Formats: sequence, structure tokens, C-alpha cells
Amino acid sequence: MAVILGIESSCDETSASICIDGEIKSNIIAGQAIHANYGGVVPELASRAHQQNIIPTVDQAIQQAKINKNDIDAVAFTRGPGLLGSLLVGTSFAKSFALAQNIPLIEVNHMQAHILAHFIEDPKPAFPFLCLTVSGGHTQIVLVKDYFDMELLGQTLDDAAGEAFDKTAKILNLPYPGGPLIDKYAKEGNPLAFALPEPQIADLNFSFSGLKTAILYMVQAQEKENPNFLAENMADVCASVQQRIVTILLNKLKKAAKQTGVKDIAIAGGVSANSGLRSGLVAMGEKYKWNVFIPKFEYCTDNAAMIAIAGYQKFLKSDFVGQDISPLARMHV
Ligand code: KG4
Ligand code: ZN
Repeated sequence: MAVILGIESSCDETSASICIDGEIKSNIIAGQAIHANYGGVVPELASRAHQQNIIPTVDQAIQQAKINKNDIDAVAFTRGPGLLGSLLVGTSFAKSFALAQNIPLIEVNHMQAHILAHFIEDPKPAFPFLCLTVSGGHTQIVLVKDYFDMELLGQTLDDAAGEAFDKTAKILNLPYPGGPLIDKYAKEGNPLAFALPEPQIADLNFSFSGLKTAILYMVQAQEKENPNFLAENMADVCASVQQRIVTILLNKLKKAAKQTGVKDIAIAGGVSANSGLRSGLVAMGEKYKWNVFIPKFEYCTDNAAMIAIAGYQKFLKSDFVGQDISPLARMHV
């Protein structure tokens, strides 16, 4: 039997999970409401909150899995990419825990873990598959050849898709994180109400900063005519923005599928919780006869279950690291 403790602390979620023989038994996530007042994650506040949350979160994960801490065979942690101060808390905890319990330590790449979240539950994709990973910090199309053999086919040249949602929300005076709120308003709105440009970017790369500027100029122009523009048109603006971001993402995914001939297509990361992206992918999958893989909501945004499942795969290969390991703000898939 293999019992893995997974630890995630790359951004503003402190999370701990227990995985037993590849099955997730608990996945505790402590969010940090404090950032909502600042329009984005404040790194210094995030690392302090991780320090306060980490021990109770791990305790809860152990309790919910109905095990004893001495049953744990290895501890897996997010090494990066992410905010260095936040990563340091999870890394230091994992190192101390491994040392105290005399068990192996496993480093996990957060971007790989988002993709490997697809191996938590059935149906699981078969290698090779394509994954569109869309989060607050990344937008990538990845060819996944094996658990830890991934090729980056395209990525954003500026803002990430989640950032496009969050920065638009700021323009619309909505609190951070704006993605889920835009999604909520979009459900009531007309996606064709406001025309927004689709950037023409080469290959399988993305760009979202021009879209953000187009939205800003559109809102400013409308507010000149009608100071109540936003209050009166929030649903239509959100629906139009969401529709544009989703079509940018799906059109590139279609291009990647055509280019590689791969028909197993997955999405991952926080933005894969978006209802427009989920339904758009299902519709595109039906049209092009893809096998589509969409994670459960709780495994889309940052969580330790994805770290524990990635850790389990490394545990099977005895892929361990030493106490001299340190976190990395930047890491590639
Ligand atoms: O993967 P994640 O939890 O953290 C990072 O690694 O960045 O992704 C967070 C991002 C945020 O930008 C948030 O606004 C976005 O995911 N997000 C959404 C939705 N839920 C979360 N964006 C659009 N629609 C959603 N429903
Ligand atoms: Zn993430």
C-alpha cells in the first residue's frame, strides 16, 4: 500500500490531500479571502496566510482520510512554478515532515499536476493526448506523451487566460478573482451584444493583452454616452468577453488537434471551471469526434489532490529528491 501526502501552496490556496494507492481520500483547500480587497494576490500576505493555514489543513486532510500520520509513506509538494514566498512555505513544511517521519520527499511541477488531475478519476485520457492548461498564470497547449513527458506546443505571449478574466473584471469593477463572477453574469447575457477582436497570433500561441485594452476602450466609450452603462449591461458585457476568450482558446485547440492528429483532448487549470469553455469544448468535441476530458470542478482550480496523484506516479518509480531541494518560481511542463 502507498499512502501519499500532497501539499500545494503555489499561489493563494493552501491545500493538503491524502492519496492511497492512486485513490484520493481527502482534498482540503483553505482559500485566502484577504486578497479580494486588493484586486489581486498580494504575495507577502499570501505566504503569511500559508504559514497560518498549513498545519491545520494537513491535520484535516489526515483526519478526513481516516489515517494516522505514521501511515504516510511519502510527501509530495509543489516545487513551482508560483510565488516564491508561497512555495517556500509548502516546500519547507514538506521537507520538515519528511525529515521528522523519515520518509521520501517528492517534488511536483504544478503545471504537470494540473494536467495529471485527469488521472484522479475515470474516464482517464490515453497517451498521447492534448491538454489546454488555462490558469491565472499560464495558458498552454501541451502534448502529453506520458505522465512526465510533456511537450509545450504553444503558450501565451503576454497575459494568461485567467488574467484576461481577472483584469477584465477589474475594468468592470468586480472583485478578485473575477473569472467566476464573469462566468456567473455571462449566463444571463447575450454573447453577441458587443463585438471584440480575435487577435491574429502565429502558430499555437496566444495573446490576451490587446483584448483587455479593447474592452477598456469599449467600456470607456460607452460610459461617455451613458454613465450607467456597466450597471445596465453587466451581463451582456460579461457574456461577450467570455465568448471571445473561449473562442480564442478553442480555435487554437482545434488547430493543435488538426496539426497533431490527436483526438483525445483535455482541459485543465482554474479557467477550465468556466462554463462557456466547458460547453464550447463539448460542442467542438462532438463536431470533430474528439474524446473530451473535463476535470471535476474541485480539481480545476489549485488543489493538493493533483499534487498527490502526480506524487503517487513518481512514488511508483522511486523518483525522490533530497533535503537540499528548493522551490522555483519558474518551471516548464
Ligand atoms: O489554476 P488556478 O486556481 O491558479 C493558478 O495556478 O493560477 O487558476 C486561477 C484562475 C483565476 O484567474 C480565476 O479567475 C480563474 O482561474 N477562474 C475562472 C473560473 N474559475 C476560476 N475563470 C473563468 N471562469 C471561471 N468559472
Ligand atoms: Zn494552478
